[in-house]
Amino acid sequence: MSTTREPLATLQLYAADEAVTQHLAELLSPIVCGKDALQRPENFKAGGHIHLEGDLGAGKTSFTRAFLRKAGVTERIKSPSYALIESYNLSSLNAYHLDFYRFSDSREWLDAGFRDILQENAVVLIEWPEKAGKLLPLADLTIKLDYCEPGRQIQLAAYSKKGKEWLTTLKPLLREFPLQD
Ligand SMILES: Nc1ncnc2c1ncn2[C@@H]1O[C@H](COP(=O)(O)OP(=O)(O)OP(=O)(O)O)[C@@H](O)[C@H]1O
Ligand SMILES: [Mg+2]
Repeated sequence: MSTTREPLATLQLYAADEAVTQHLAELLSPIVCGKDALQRPENFKAGGHIHLEGDLGAGKTSFTRAFLRKAGVTERIKSPSYALIESYNLSSLNAYHLDFYRFSDSREWLDAGFRDILQENAVVLIEWPEKAGKLLPLADLTIKLDYCEPGRQIQLAAYSKKGKEWLTTLKPLLREFPLQD
């Protein structure tokens, strides 16, 4: 994983309502989960880490629910706000949805044993990653949702080669989205 703080690639778009945010998640999900039937280099494994940033109610859980549903989760997708983590078994890999909002100390995620999950080859989506401080490794992709009434401004920033590849694959699928440079 890259250690640079400068993103390798970015995409910005406007989601006028929740359905647009969910549609974005549904387009990204098969790319991340390796279900998009594209040829990839042999060492390009399905799975990866996505950080979701944005104020309370910005749409992080909404995005993640649509992402996981598209990935094949049929059970109820609960917000991990209280349990901190929800786990799902997809056909070929595990998915973890974490929420660090309630952490008051940036080391709490380590004490909670989440480092093992980060080392697994899985799909990991983390809400409020900033609460884990600098100890949390950079994600492949950080998605930031900002209030921009009536909708949300969404910025996707890739911090690894894998994340950059995801964005390259995603971009042509975003024809109906208002993309911004
Ligand atoms: N463009 C949009 N994208 C996503 N959600 C939107 C949008 N416009 C309005 N909403 C509304 O914003 C709310 C998003 O709630 P959600 O629980 O996903 O936020 P969150 O970022 O996970 O908050 P928290 O930090 O509390 O976990 C929902 O009520 C949704 O209907
Ligand atoms: Mg949430």
